[in-house]
Amino acid sequence: MSRPADPPDLARWRADTPGCERRIHLNSAGASLVPRPVRAAIDAHLDLEDEIGGYEAGEARPEALERVGEDVGRVVGAARRNIAFSQNSTTAFAQALGAFDFAAGDVILTSRADYASNQIMYLSLARRLGVEIVRAPDLPEGGIDPQAVREIVRRRPPTLVAVTWIPTNSGLVQAVAPIGAVCRAADVPYLVDGCQAVGQMPIDAPAIGCDYLSATSRKFLRGPRGIGFLYVADHALAAGAHPLLVDMHGATWTDPDRFELTPDARRFESWEIAYALVLGLGAAAAYALEVGLETARERSWALAAYARERLTEVPGVRVLDRGAERCAIVTAELAGRAAAEIKLALRARGINTSSPARDDAVIDMDAKGASSAIRISPHYYNSAAEIDTAVESLGDLLGSR
Ligand SMILES: Cc1ncc(COP(=O)(O)O)c(C=O)c1O
Repeated sequence: MSRPADPPDLARWRADTPGCERRIHLNSAGASLVPRPVRAAIDAHLDLEDEIGGYEAGEARPEALERVGEDVGRVVGAARRNIAFSQNSTTAFAQALGAFDFAAGDVILTSRADYASNQIMYLSLARRLGVEIVRAPDLPEGGIDPQAVREIVRRRPPTLVAVTWIPTNSGLVQAVAPIGAVCRAADVPYLVDGCQAVGQMPIDAPAIGCDYLSATSRKFLRGPRGIGFLYVADHALAAGAHPLLVDMHGATWTDPDRFELTPDARRFESWEIAYALVLGLGAAAAYALEVGLETARERSWALAAYARERLTEVPGVRVLDRGAERCAIVTAELAGRAAAEIKLALRARGINTSSPARDDAVIDMDAKGASSAIRISPHYYNSAAEIDTAVESLGDLLGSR
């Protein structure tokens, strides 16, 4: 069994993460623990707002806000001009969907593993506008089949291809780059939900070939809750893409009957935004770049692989993960027990996990015959000893030890 050794930087990462002292936090797919510089950036800005006023504080730090855009851009391999801040990943995704004038009979091509809120948005577009939703089949090992996407696009070009890179469940890493190549070759717009991927692994959004990539701050990027962002590719900006309901920050009202779009991705933003959280997101991006996104991937994936191995030793536990390549999200069914109950019992022992239910991933859960799962999502600052403690506690709770 490959038990990941503690790397030399682990002590420093943990010292920067006060929450580590008190709990075993294995819920980065929910919200990771924030490192000290993130909290400090938020506090400093709230202090400034207290002192000089909210609008005044926002205007006092234009370079700091600019730097956030640059650092967030670097996390996804993009420039400042390609980044729009949003309240969360879902609003970023919705803003991108709002850039398309869908009509009855238009097709959205997606995956079986797309995030629940995204599936509901597609269904809402189907209900309101008559859009047709096509879900490409999976590969035998799990995850959307890029060859099947190619065939579907060839037979009936969709208005949009939308794919969740790392779904909320199942350890899957979907093949977003090969699908991007299909979309670019056929000139079909492509929206990627990068919410769970950002901060977990290196990302080069232009190389994926997507028009949009949505993300949140609080998960593997280790930023605060309540803030996210949207990457918008240069070719989408050049084509004049903008959200249906663009506001006075995304555009300028130039004449009674005219408006002009903001030249860069900021046309997808709202005027009002929590500047303290934007600065917290920037500190998280800078911290992630300093740790290294390759380091984050290697270490979090190795800890997750170790958790999967250890879970198979616990009688009655069924690991549900699929895919040729498995990420830092581990899901397992628990001997017929409700995962929400076990999650709370683990929490009472100081161990944080989460418990996706069927309606978090209807297609995936039904295919596996599971009604709930425990989700363990380590990050680079966790240790193998923490995984051992969590799995042993789980075994105790299931009465198998
Ligand atoms: C794959 C995926 N996409 C999108 C979201 C939604 O993110 P947010 O809550 O920031 O809107 C989540 C949240 O768990 C997710 O797992």
